[in-house]
Amino acid sequence: MNLTKYEILQNQLLEQPKTWLITGVAGFIGSNLLEKLLKLEQQVIGLDNFSTGYQHNLDQVQSSVTANQWKRFNFICGDIRRIEDCKQACQGVDFVLHQAAFCSVPGSIEDPTTTNQINIDGFLNMLITGRDATIQRFVYAASSATYGDHPDLPKVEEKIGKQLSPYAVTKLVNELYAEVFAINYNFRTIGLRYFNIFGRRQDPNGAYAAVIPKWIAAMINNEPVYINGDGETSRDFCYIDNAVQANILAALTTDAAATNQVYNVAVGDRTSLNSLYQHLRANLAKKFPHLQTAQPVYCDFRPGDVRHSQASIDKASSLLGYEPTHKIAEGLAEALDWYIDNQ
Ligand SMILES: NC(=O)c1ccc[n+]([C@@H]2O[C@H](COP(=O)([O-])OP(=O)(O)OC[C@H]3O[C@@H](n4cnc5c(N)ncnc54)[C@H](O)[C@@H]3O)[C@@H](O)[C@H]2O)c1
Repeated sequence: MNLTKYEILQNQLLEQPKTWLITGVAGFIGSNLLEKLLKLEQQVIGLDNFSTGYQHNLDQVQSSVTANQWKRFNFICGDIRRIEDCKQACQGVDFVLHQAAFCSVPGSIEDPTTTNQINIDGFLNMLITGRDATIQRFVYAASSATYGDHPDLPKVEEKIGKQLSPYAVTKLVNELYAEVFAINYNFRTIGLRYFNIFGRRQDPNGAYAAVIPKWIAAMINNEPVYINGDGETSRDFCYIDNAVQANILAALTTDAAATNQVYNVAVGDRTSLNSLYQHLRANLAKKFPHLQTAQPVYCDFRPGDVRHSQASIDKASSLLGYEPTHKIAEGLAEALDWYIDNQ
C-alpha cells in the first residue's frame, strides 16, 4: 500500500522527534496542533496569553494524550507583543507554528490598534526571534481574508484584491514581512492561508464566534440563528484535521521551491450559508426535534465580509503533498458531538 506524504512524515517524526513551538496553543487551531504533535511523541513548547484561548482547551488535550506525552509539553503564559516572551519560547526549537493573533474581522474594525499590535508588532517579534534562534522553519497562520475583493473563484495564491478589514491588512503584512525576511536573512517561512477552519475546540461563545459553533449553540438552545445577508454568501469550510496536516507538511518539507511561499489551506469546495444552515438543522433535528421546523432570521450584510470564498488547493497539493482527508460533511459528522457537548 502506498503511504501518503503526510503518513511518511508522521512516521519520520515518530522515529526522530523534534521540538516545536506553537504560539496561540490554547486556542482552537493551536490546541489541535498540540494534540497531534504530542500524539506523535514530539517535544512541544506552547505560548499563549489566554486572550481568546482557554485553559480548558489545554485540559482537553491533556485528557486525550498519555501522561508521558503530556510531560513533553512545556507551557509559557506570555504575550507575543513582549519580545522577551518570544525569546524564551523559541529556545531550542526546531519548528515554529505561529498561530497567535487577534483573529476577528469585525473585531479588527472595532479595534484596529490592538489588531495591529498583536498581528504586526507581535508577528515581527516572532520573526526576529525565530531568525536569531535555531529555527529550521517558521510556519505561520495567514488568512483567506487577504483575497479581499478579488472576484476570481477559485482563489489562487498569486491573485489578491483589496483588503476589506484591518485584520486582512495585518495578515497581508505578515506575508510581506515573511518575504522580506527570506530575501534579507535567508529565513525560511511558509504562510498558510486558512479558509474557515472548523472542528473541536472552536469557541462557540466568544464575542466573535465563527458561524458553525455559533449556529449550533443557538439551534440547540432554541435561540434565533441570524444569517448576515441573503444566505448565498459562501465559504470553503475546512475541517481542522486538514489544517493540522498542512502545518506538518509545511514544517517538514525539504523542497527548497516549496519554502518562502504561501498556500491556501481549504478543501476546494464552496458551501452557501443557506446550505450550511439546512445541513446543520437536518443533522441536529435527529437529537433536537424542536429544530424540524426552525427557520433562520436574515439580517444586514456584515461590513468587511467577502461575498464568496473558495480556494484552489492545487499549489499545496503539488508542492507540499497536501491531501485533505475531510470534506465539510465528513468534518461536521466527526465534530458534531463535540459541538453539542461543549456549547
Ligand atoms: N479559524 C479560522 O478559520 C482561521 C481562518 C484564517 C486564519 N486563522 C488564523 O489562525 C490562527 C489561529 O486562529 P484560531 O481560530 O485558532 O483562533 P483562537 O482565537 O482560538 O486562537 C488564537 C490564540 O492566540 C492567543 N493569542 C492572541 N493574542 C496573543 C498574544 N498577544 N500573545 C500570545 N497569545 C495570543 C489567544 O489567546 C488564542 O489562544 C490565527 O492567526 C488566525 O488569524 C484562523
